Parts: sequence; C-alpha cells; structure tokens
Amino acid sequence: MLGVAGKTPPPSELEFLRSMVNRQIQYPGTIGISDYFFLTALVSILAPKRVVEIGTLTGFSAAIIAAALRRQHGKDSESWVDTIDVLSKCLIDETRPTGFEIAESFPQLASMIRLRIPHNSTVVSELAKRDELEIVFIDADHRHPSPLLDLLRLTPYIRSRGWIVLHDIQLGTIGRKAIEAGQRLSWGAAYGAEWLFDSWPFGKIGGGNIGAVQLPNDRSALIPFALRLMSVPFEITDHAARIAWRALYQSFAELV
Ligand SMILES: C[S@@+](CC[C@H](N)C(=O)[O-])C[C@H]1O[C@@H](n2cnc3c(N)ncnc32)[C@H](O)[C@@H]1O
Repeated sequence: MLGVAGKTPPPSELEFLRSMVNRQIQYPGTIGISDYFFLTALVSILAPKRVVEIGTLTGFSAAIIAAALRRQHGKDSESWVDTIDVLSKCLIDETRPTGFEIAESFPQLASMIRLRIPHNSTVVSELAKRDELEIVFIDADHRHPSPLLDLLRLTPYIRSRGWIVLHDIQLGTIGRKAIEAGQRLSWGAAYGAEWLFDSWPFGKIGGGNIGAVQLPNDRSALIPFALRLMSVPFEITDHAARIAWRALYQSFAELV
C-alpha cells in the first residue's frame, strides 16, 4: 500500500526500538509501544526528508520520527521534524516546557526537531509548500471535529496520495468501555480521531489505536466527506464550536 514493496528495516532500527521498549520512563499521554512501532514503520518505509507533527507534549513521538529519519538519511543529511503544539508549557507538567523530553532523553536528535510552539495547525502554511509533504502525524485535540480540522488544514501541503497518521483512533471506544467499567479517565473519551478514521472513504491502514489515512488524487473529494462528518454532533461546544465551524468551511477553499 505504501508503494515501496520489499523494503527492510536497517538493523539499528530494531536495536533502537528495543531500547525504547526497555526505557524506564514513559510519560503519560505519549504514544505507546505498538503506536511507535507503527509510526516508525511508516516513516522508515516512506523515508521522506521531513515530517510535520501536530501535538508535541513531551516531544517523545517527535523523537521517534526523527530517529527513523536519521536512520534513513544519515546523521549529516538535511532531514527534520516540525512539531506543533498549542501550549508552551507542557500539558502534563506545567513546570516544564512543551518538548522537554527531547533535550532530556534524545539530545542527539535535538538538532532535527523544530519546536513550533505555541501554534496550532494553521502554522503549517508558513512551514511547508503546497504538495510538499509525504506524511504527517496528528496527535493533538482528539475531540470531534478537531482531528478533521487539523487534517483539512494540512491537506494542501501534502502531496496527492500522501499519508496522514492519526493517533487515538480507538480512544472513544476504549474510554467508553473504561467508564462503563467504573474507571476514572484522565484523558477523556473523545471520538474525533476514531470517527475520522472509521469513516475515511479512501485508502487507510489500521494498526490498533493508531492508523494512517491516504489522501485521494483529487483533494476536493474531501469536501463531501468532511460535510458528512460535520453532521455528527461536535464534542466541543459554544465559542470553540463556532470557531471550528468557520475554520472548517475556510479550509475548503484550499482544497479546490
Ligand atoms: C496526546 S498529546 C501528544 C503526545 C505526543 N504526540 C507524543 O506521543 O509524545 C496532545 C498534545 O496536543 C496539544 N494540543 C491540543 N490541542 C491542540 C491544537 N489544537 N493544536 C496543537 N496542539 C494541540 C496538547 O497541548 C498536547 O501537548
């Protein structure tokens, strides 16, 4: 499906992933083991020069992407990750800056990771050219329709048949089951990424709670799809919902 049949991972990839699995630290809210296996596989197979990520938190997933790019292109090549987050102070520890884990745990990759904070997905228009990106990663606000809005804002900058990796595509279902079992959830049970992935009518690859959706040849085909998804009640309300409505319609202008 990725159009690179027969590609095999470099031996250092397995070593790196093993070292991640054996790490003592895992901050809450960062992607889990099977998620970073999936993300690494996609980035390694497609091997783009650059990746854009929405949702930095500690910087862990940005480092996973940067490590995959480095293995593909080498230490001295010009490859990098732009990671965008709306918060300057890390959501899970306000005493530390967003992306703090990059310097703490991945200093050798820090030069490849460009922190774009505080920003949201609109900043991609300043970072990339139209049709430039091959793969992006969305792991930000999971409440419907925020993942859809992030995807539509990024789409003009992704080449036709490019890939968008979505995290937490089972968060709503997992969260609902946990609530039904009487558990208290620190991350809520938002369905935005799940509904987006499940209803995606074009190419897609599921990997558990993470998945990748492929853009169609013609971006304008996203408009009827987006309108259908926008008919599902939003999980954000009031002012935020009104802003999202307007932003969704504005994003259509860049798709035609
Ligand atoms: C689940 S965490 C990201 C985890 C990170 N990708 C990892 O695995 O290491 C979500 C992050 O998205 C950020 N965020 C929430 N809404 C956002 C938005 N509209 N635009 C950009 N970032 C947002 C939060 O501040 C938080 O840091």
